[in-house]
Amino acid sequence: MSVVSDIKKISVSHEEALKQNEYKQLVRSLVESKFDSAPKAFVHTYGCQGNVADGERLKGMLEEMGYSLVEELENADLILYNTCAIREHAEDRVFGNVGALKKMKYENRDMKIILCGCMMQQQHIADKIRASYPFVDIVFGTHVIHKLPEFLYRSFATGKKVYELPDNDGVIAEELPVHRDSEFKAWIPIMYGCNNFCTYCIVPYVRGRERSRDPETIVNEAKELVANGYKEITLLGQNVNSYGKYPDYGCNFAALLRRLNDIDGDFTIRFMTSHPKDCTSELLDTMAECEKVAKHLHLPFQSGNNRVLNDMNRRYTREKYLELLNYAYSVMPELSVTSDVIVGFPGETYEEFLDTVSLIKEAKFTSMYTFIYSAREGTKAAKMPDPISKEEKGKWLRELIEVQEVIAAERTASMVRKTFRVLCESISKSGLIEGRTSGNIIIEFPADASVIGSFRKVRVTESLTWILRGELAE
Ligand code: 5AD
Ligand code: SF4
Repeated sequence: MSVVSDIKKISVSHEEALKQNEYKQLVRSLVESKFDSAPKAFVHTYGCQGNVADGERLKGMLEEMGYSLVEELENADLILYNTCAIREHAEDRVFGNVGALKKMKYENRDMKIILCGCMMQQQHIADKIRASYPFVDIVFGTHVIHKLPEFLYRSFATGKKVYELPDNDGVIAEELPVHRDSEFKAWIPIMYGCNNFCTYCIVPYVRGRERSRDPETIVNEAKELVANGYKEITLLGQNVNSYGKYPDYGCNFAALLRRLNDIDGDFTIRFMTSHPKDCTSELLDTMAECEKVAKHLHLPFQSGNNRVLNDMNRRYTREKYLELLNYAYSVMPELSVTSDVIVGFPGETYEEFLDTVSLIKEAKFTSMYTFIYSAREGTKAAKMPDPISKEEKGKWLRELIEVQEVIAAERTASMVRKTFRVLCESISKSGLIEGRTSGNIIIEFPADASVIGSFRKVRVTESLTWILRGELAE
């Protein structure tokens, strides 16, 4: 099959985009007649950066429909929760927050409550919302976010509930407006979905099959961002390393990185997430050679035990993972590696867990996201016997974090008195400027707020386990 027909198969058609534009105009006229001034929309996104990028598109559409975006929930005329399904805890938070909206809805019946994102793509969740949260107006899944205008119009026009969770392999919607949350850091999704089916993970079920955006479109989007003064571009995907496989554009992830690195301008390129099974020496060499690519690799290992890795369907071994890291450090001695790990996968024994502890001692991660296994309905692992209690798993987790704390502290201590190029991002709680090194390590330092959004040289004066303190070096 040709690339063109492959792209056509997965893309939202131009006609569909035009249809949604018509719905936008209809909603716009409707809200103009209903409200004295622009109605307020509160959008909250849970979960990963992929969801954040979707959230920016949902906000973009709402703005085009005449809504003004607000940071406070109170007095909002529209509340949209863009949800996450990765662990039970993420779902519990959403249920709690939606429950709290009941009173608001009964006080303001014109208010619209909208739920979308990964959690809503699951039928059993949508059923629970319908049965227990009848005040929710619109629920839609991950494959139809471009239809928000149509759903909102239907809700206004009919007053009926809108539930839309088509179960398909997923689409690519290119013609959506984007409300970027930052003026100097931008997300570019480069691929959607996941084909890996790690046995614990819900993502392949709620995000559909792996599909990559056209490299030309990505490069043009990046050029436009750089021209508009953006200083950092983060490429997003569940498994960016397998970018370009479907459709096969003849441009793999390493080639895409080179094309982006060739764009003129002073900016940094980041990416996440990488899967060890697809992380090649070609990619690591490319990272090393491309001066705009941050020397940070987020490479989830999940477990240090081969039996557990096999049951997780990760398709690499502990030895292969460590070999990969050694190669990465050999071509980028300054590389900062971060990772994800799951403690208490079904059937994991304490001895097997100790292999995870020994792996982190060897790997020397800068930091790590640690999770206790959470059973997800519909996944293979959810059917595996899981005899270890939550309390016991909690103990293992604390043991792991203690070891990592020592490693992280050694790492940050080794950075003291060195100078790093830092993107200044915000004002921290302690009133200092907060920025990030190329390795994605947070550094705080005193400076005027005018530095925010620019690169500065910062000399490290102190290390605080996970983060650094410093001073401007120029
Ligand atoms: N339970 C616990 N952690 C999970 N993750 C994914 N699914 C689960 C689950 N069912 C973690 C993995 C992944 C990260 C985004 O979330 O470590 O890399
Ligand atoms: Fe989930 Fe594995 Fe896909 Fe990551 S690679 S999204 S952990 S299935």
